[in-house]
Amino acid sequence: MTSRLSAFASSLFLSLLAGCGGGGGGGAIDPVATPTPYPPAPAVANPDPLKDAALVSGRLVGTAVQSSYLGQSQYGDTYVKHFNYVTAEWEMKWDPIQKQRGVFNFTGGDAIVDHANARGIAVKGHALVWHGATPDWVNGLSSEELRTEVGYHIRTVAKHFKGRVIAWDVVNEAVDDNGRDLRNSVFLQKLGPGYIAEAFQIAHEADPGAILIYNDYSGEGRGGKSDRIYQLVKELKDSGVPIHGVGLQAHFDGASYPSQADITWNMQRLAELGLLVNVSELDVRVKSITTDRWDRQKRAYKDLTAACMAVSRCHAITLWGFTDKYSWIDSAFGADDPLPFDESYQAKPAFFGMQEAFLGR
Ligand code: G3I
Repeated sequence: MTSRLSAFASSLFLSLLAGCGGGGGGGAIDPVATPTPYPPAPAVANPDPLKDAALVSGRLVGTAVQSSYLGQSQYGDTYVKHFNYVTAEWEMKWDPIQKQRGVFNFTGGDAIVDHANARGIAVKGHALVWHGATPDWVNGLSSEELRTEVGYHIRTVAKHFKGRVIAWDVVNEAVDDNGRDLRNSVFLQKLGPGYIAEAFQIAHEADPGAILIYNDYSGEGRGGKSDRIYQLVKELKDSGVPIHGVGLQAHFDGASYPSQADITWNMQRLAELGLLVNVSELDVRVKSITTDRWDRQKRAYKDLTAACMAVSRCHAITLWGFTDKYSWIDSAFGADDPLPFDESYQAKPAFFGMQEAFLGR
């Protein structure tokens, strides 16, 4: 029994003992005062490299990273052992790179790219145009100034990393959650819907060798937003815009996520447009699951990976972080354990769900 599990068992035993204390100082436990923690995931140290399983079918398996963690030996060693693809979680976005107009800071991005390139790990740039990481000064520009600055930013950043990244998330999350409209971002308001095509065109001119991707969330299976994303990328492709792929973020809740069949169907229709498909930001929240939590999380990771395996043009799966020690989910949704490695960098059932699916098991 792992030390964490035994610690949990003894704390549960003590809490039950107190509850049965009867008269005197025992007293009943207030059921809401001390919610019983769910047993930690059964985890395994030192599993075979996940990238070896992905490579059997020639696929990339990656993770988002932050440069400040790379110096931590367990973090760096685990990432290098298991992944052959990496995305900067935030350090290659507009806000950190050009926080001040005309002043570019590539420190974080270069640290990630150099670390990966030195180890033969491919890099995807993320993200050139996204409403979620746009510095304040951009929002105050006139339409004419904004068009100039968007082009300058894309050109400067794409040229800086040219030859060191294999792909870019060029435009991120341009479709509204209502599944009908484009998101009413500063880019749409001031540049019109053509900003999307223009961004891809400029990125292609700056780095003709890069795979250029449209990336979004809640478009993994069947549904309105999925259809709107399909319509957007079909229009871009049909009009000769240099778009090469679609990123399906897959920020899932393990209690309810699209079926493997629906994800496969959606990936296949995107592939039939001549586009690559990648799962770009996979994590699976589980805190709402009170029974069989770790098996259900494994099921979600396995279903998603199997869906990708069923579509030849689904060429990569990227996790949005790989260890529960560091996940954006904790700050955005509350404490959770959404990733395939636990906080001690041991492999959870979710890891083996991906490995089994990569190996066709
Ligand atoms: O770590 C630095 C700290 O040293 C510094 O003092 C501080 C100054 O603001 O910034 C800290 O970095 C923060 C970083 O997360 C690491 O925690 C950034 O402020 C913060 O903006 C950044 O948030 C990221 C967010 O995108 C915005 O860029 C999240 O990590 C990242 O998980 C999230 O990822 C997005 C995808 O890009 C697009 N899809 C949705 C996804 C989740 O929102």
